Amino acid sequence: MKQLFATTARGFEELLKVELAELGATECKIAQGGVHFQADDETLYRSLLWSRLSSRILLPIVNGKVYSDLDLYSIVTGQDWLSYFDEKATFFVDFNGTNQEIRHTQFGAMRVKDAIVDYFERQGKARPNVDKDYPDVRIHAYLNKEELVVSLDLSGEALHLRGYREDTGQAPLRETLAAAIVLRSGWKKGTPLVDPMCGSGTLLIEAAQMEAQIAPQLHRLHWGFDCWKGHNQDAWDEVKAEAVQQAEAYFNQNLKPHFYGFDLDHRVLKKAQKNAQNAGVAHLIHWKQGDVAALKNPSPDEVGTVICNPPYGERLGTTPALIALYSVFGQRLKNEFGGWNASIFSSESTLLDCLRMRSHRQFKAKNGPLDCVQKNYQISERKESVAENPLEFDRTSTVAVDFANRLQKNIKKIEKWAKQQGLDAYRLYDADLPEYNVAVDRYGDHIVVQEYAAPKNIDENKARQRLLDAVTATLQVTGIET
Ligand SMILES: C[S@@+](CC[C@H](N)C(=O)[O-])C[C@H]1O[C@@H](n2cnc3c(N)ncnc32)[C@H](O)[C@@H]1O
Repeated sequence: MKQLFATTARGFEELLKVELAELGATECKIAQGGVHFQADDETLYRSLLWSRLSSRILLPIVNGKVYSDLDLYSIVTGQDWLSYFDEKATFFVDFNGTNQEIRHTQFGAMRVKDAIVDYFERQGKARPNVDKDYPDVRIHAYLNKEELVVSLDLSGEALHLRGYREDTGQAPLRETLAAAIVLRSGWKKGTPLVDPMCGSGTLLIEAAQMEAQIAPQLHRLHWGFDCWKGHNQDAWDEVKAEAVQQAEAYFNQNLKPHFYGFDLDHRVLKKAQKNAQNAGVAHLIHWKQGDVAALKNPSPDEVGTVICNPPYGERLGTTPALIALYSVFGQRLKNEFGGWNASIFSSESTLLDCLRMRSHRQFKAKNGPLDCVQKNYQISERKESVAENPLEFDRTSTVAVDFANRLQKNIKKIEKWAKQQGLDAYRLYDADLPEYNVAVDRYGDHIVVQEYAAPKNIDENKARQRLLDAVTATLQVTGIET
């Protein structure tokens, strides 16, 4: 049995623990950023091949306390490195964390590297070479206050790199994050999965691989264990052969495809298609160009899940356009997908409010530096009536109805007058209703919504929600293009 540590993004430790246990790991214990577990050789290789949530799988070699640069050097040089790899292997040190003495990770990495090279020299061997890009062996060092752990990284390149993604659209999700979103969405294998703004298709590809029982690392050619002296080739061959058989058995069942990806951008769909081909799931996914404003349920006789990571402010789009997009998306979900589940991932909780649906589960996650939220919904069976053009003013689905009514009344009156006067710049609304403390102006083909500062006694979230509602209603009433 080996004692191992699988790293993952913060917040996914619990999910990873379940995944590792399903793969046969024992003694799984959650720590910050990962899970400690025990495994025999087969389970170790199975975890490397099958884990969708691990970033790396590490074999801890030594831990110790570092109060000085010399401590770091002595701990590392005191190990029997020759029992792990020989001097012909190239290596690279990945150093994480700092403390009072080791203030830069680069300095830490250099000291570990020096200690390993000096060890080999003292054993009368050649000094092994460092290779930053394609090392045979990766050493992982982690320093937390004075606690140091040095491990052999058995994965090699990080495990989110599955090898299927050649090209992406804007803001693609990391594969490990996409897998976690799928696992949290409540989608059940064998049921339809629709991503209406699929970009390069990562969510659908991860889900399709789960269903098709394709190990995420089935086609990885280089591993961190290739030059490890503890590598058990027979066990690895067995686990790999088992994975190939599983994928073939599923493929031979010839099941009906029920994954659907849509996107406005036909170029990104081409990339998605290519990625799906590389991932071995092209035959399972239908791709079609389309605007979410015209989204139709591609499988109305079944109950499935809509999963999506729509654009959000930080990297894509502008606020009014996003408000319009989320509002329309909510309407399409309610009209086309009654009885289905939906799971939407966004960095902007307030944009998710524009869907106008009540979520029953929420998860927090980081997407790079962004704090994000995933909300799960059960879409009610009841169909809401929506105008053919979803941006058309329709009282049954309009938010901020009082505001929308007033704005429409003002428009009727003011636009007639402006026409007579030959004006194309005028104010349509000026804080007429105290709850909607905004001004709405028309400048030719443009509408400008400005917010008056809310009084201090109004809750900040409430004020933001009202502003979003006012923008949404303005878009609907004026029918302006975003
Ligand atoms: C954040 S990206 C999705 C990234 C994707 N999850 C991935 O991993 O590649 C959002 C996608 O929404 C698409 N999109 C934006 N507006 C849309 C609309 N009105 N209808 C359909 N797709 C739209 C964009 O083209 C973009 O590909």
